[in-house]
Amino acid sequence: MTTNRTFTMIKPDAVADGHTGAIIQLIEAAGFRIVAIKKTQLSADRAGQFYAVHQERPFYGDLCQYMSSGAIVPMILEKENAVADFRALIGATNPEQAAEGTIRKKFAKSVQANAIHGSDSDENAAIEGSFFFADLEKF
Ligand code: PPS
Repeated sequence: MTTNRTFTMIKPDAVADGHTGAIIQLIEAAGFRIVAIKKTQLSADRAGQFYAVHQERPFYGDLCQYMSSGAIVPMILEKENAVADFRALIGATNPEQAAEGTIRKKFAKSVQANAIHGSDSDENAAIEGSFFFADLEKF
């Protein structure tokens, strides 16, 4: 297995509720190394760019509004098998289907306010990481 990277962001509901530290602790305890991290807020336009792949879906407008509604904490993470292992750590998109012990089971409120994002492929992880971070911010 090779070491690779994934991209994540802690979403506005989890940041506003004060779960940032607890979520980062779970991520590091699972063996992920933080390569880049910041706290920021997306405009609705930038959220729309980030989620452009979903622009034909009925929830796109709501998703962009929600993702720009408050601060988020984007991160690039590194680990063997990072993308798949991170998706397992966060659990299913819909928290009602998320397994016990996953981050979404613990902190998600709904399919929209589901606490955290995780890239779905190595290719998207690289694109999404570069959306938020310059090379000089990656260590
Ligand atoms: S996934 O992980 O891409 O297979 O999940 P998917 O179901 O395709 O959802 C993609 C993102 O859209 C969000 N989502 C929604 N937002 C608002 N309302 C509804 N109904 C809804 N359904 C899905 C979901 O939280 C996913 O966000 P990310 O950040 O990609 O996890």
